Amino acid sequence: MLPVFSGPAPNPVAKHAKTRCTDVSGRFAGDESARVASFRKAYFRTVSLMMDAIETAAPGPPRSNVIIEARGLRKVFRLGGETVEALRNVSLDVFTGEYLSIMGPSGSGKSTFFNMVGGLDVPTAGSVRVHGIDLKTLSQVQLARFRCLKIGYVFQSYNLIPVQTALQNVMLPMLFLGTPPSEAAKKAASLLSEVGLGDRLHHRPDQLSGGQQQRVAIARALANDPSIILADEPTANLDLHTGQEIIEKLASLSRERGVTIISATHDHKMLSVSDRIVWVRSGEIERVEERKDIKIEVGTIE
Ligand SMILES: Nc1ncnc2c1ncn2[C@@H]1O[C@H](COP(=O)(O)OP(=O)(O)O)[C@@H](O)[C@H]1O
Ligand SMILES: [Mg+2]
Repeated sequence: MLPVFSGPAPNPVAKHAKTRCTDVSGRFAGDESARVASFRKAYFRTVSLMMDAIETAAPGPPRSNVIIEARGLRKVFRLGGETVEALRNVSLDVFTGEYLSIMGPSGSGKSTFFNMVGGLDVPTAGSVRVHGIDLKTLSQVQLARFRCLKIGYVFQSYNLIPVQTALQNVMLPMLFLGTPPSEAAKKAASLLSEVGLGDRLHHRPDQLSGGQQQRVAIARALANDPSIILADEPTANLDLHTGQEIIEKLASLSRERGVTIISATHDHKMLSVSDRIVWVRSGEIERVEERKDIKIEVGTIE
């Protein structure tokens, strides 16, 4: 039987303060105007449903401390004549405020799990509840809105808009919500200072190092105060030292802001800051460990 963990959170933190909406998943690289237009369109389509979408969705049974419940997740990809079972019956609870690492070799299903949990893709079978809401009960618009409200995304390749400055990149999710530019700029500057880039506000991504770009991406993920940050291989493009800095930054966000961090990785540096580690292999959970039980060795799994 696959492990389902429903005990008390190892690092319970009070539910995070009021969230605001952003639709920046950071997934759409490329042409700026297309990206801006796409964000604007999503925003205007969703804004009329803003406050009732989540309240009208059927809430699940209240389970204190559990922020994400995944049950019996399966994902089958069909490509040409080939079938890939990327996830096979994965069940897991994620606790509010914890730093959870999903560890496993390349191709083990980390990103697939991540995409299900983040509402970026739909499972072939099974369910995901976030804040007690079953994601499959939400319409596309509600889901977009829900992601906006609750989740910040950080990706391996940063996914910043190349022609915009660090400040503009971080402001964007707030502007899409109609936050006044002066307020958005002030908050963006403050977030960039928080990630150590107070002196790089007006640099474009190509004028920043990889680690700095990833810190901009983290600041952008925080723009609308999400309760969850999903970070998919956030250190994969970084050297050892810079990767360590990013990991520590994510860990401090978890501690200081009470944000739940879920990081998919095969970077063993992540072990030392994780409250729990979920080891996956061939689309299944192999085991789940608490930090105190982990023997830490720096390295990566190939
Ligand atoms: N869109 C897709 N179409 C077909 N196969 C896919 C797709 N995405 C992932 N896969 C396959 O699913 C498996 C798990 O992939 P993934 O979740 O990306 O692994 P990881 O993130 O651990 O490297 C791999 O065998 C991969 O080739
Ligand atoms: Mg991956």
